[in-house]
Amino acid sequence: METMIKVFSGNANRPLAEGIARSLKRPLGDATVAAFSDGEVNVKIDENVRGNDVFVIQPTNSPASNIIELLVMLDAVRRASPRRVTAVIPYFGYARQDRKDQPRVAITAKLMANLISTAGADRILTMDLHSPQIQGFFDIPFDHLFASPVFIDHLKTRLPSDFVVVAPDIGSVKMARAYAQRLGAGLALVDKRRPRADEIEVMNIIGDVADRNVVIFDDIISTGSTLVKAAAAIKKQGAKKIFAAVTHAVFAPDTSERIQDSELEELVVTDTIHHPPGSLSSKITVLSVGTLLGEAIRRIHEEESLSSLFI
Ligand code: R5P
Repeated sequence: METMIKVFSGNANRPLAEGIARSLKRPLGDATVAAFSDGEVNVKIDENVRGNDVFVIQPTNSPASNIIELLVMLDAVRRASPRRVTAVIPYFGYARQDRKDQPRVAITAKLMANLISTAGADRILTMDLHSPQIQGFFDIPFDHLFASPVFIDHLKTRLPSDFVVVAPDIGSVKMARAYAQRLGAGLALVDKRRPRADEIEVMNIIGDVADRNVVIFDDIISTGSTLVKAAAAIKKQGAKKIFAAVTHAVFAPDTSERIQDSELEELVVTDTIHHPPGSLSSKITVLSVGTLLGEAIRRIHEEESLSSLFI
């Protein structure tokens, strides 16, 4: 008997889940994902999933109830006897605390891995992890996608000729180098320091940006300080137009306004995190990764290669 795909969504990003379901040409599964009046999350899977290949879609950005919804959904599905359960986490939150770099701090990325595995996931599908080694925090199969095909298609139509790719900090160099290779461009680097968790200082630009157009790549934008300060420093060095592409639009309060007032020409983000239409600055373009995630789900189900999506 053929195993059927079933796709369910929590409340964190239903528009993306609907896009994924559309690309798979099937409706979202029927589930009640609600809360009791005291706020406790309450989930019921409202259709049979026995023997099915189940995908639960939920990014784990704030509020923390998004994480609880994911865990409770995985538990509810697991107890309903599917053949396999995949946690589809378009944005994997709490990933930035991925090592014990100071005394008495948590490693939240590992804590998340423990919680998700315990709740019942058989495998994980995510995108542009803050650090790829987080895959090793799991002992189950892990598929790590990149938003690069979506960004490159868009940027090819937008970028002026003669541009250089910039990594906004040391941690982004590997990602930026991969984009520079794909786009056939040179690479420069921002020497950034973070004196406090939500504060950054730009020290130097390493590489030549004078009289060049620039595109900055990063995985996360939160307060926007990294991008805004990098763009200001790059402009000061004589750059022409400055573009940025960042996968996860986490967006602390006022980030959108900071982008509007910045030296950036355009910031391209994806819809791994939902923002209501019209709520972001006119400089921000949101691209959907729904089709890419849908194709990855189809390939996982059909047991086809995922890496060939990125060649
Ligand atoms: C840092 O390692 C990340 O790649 C991002 O650069 C950072 O999280 C962005 O944060 P913010 O927008 O608050 O500067």
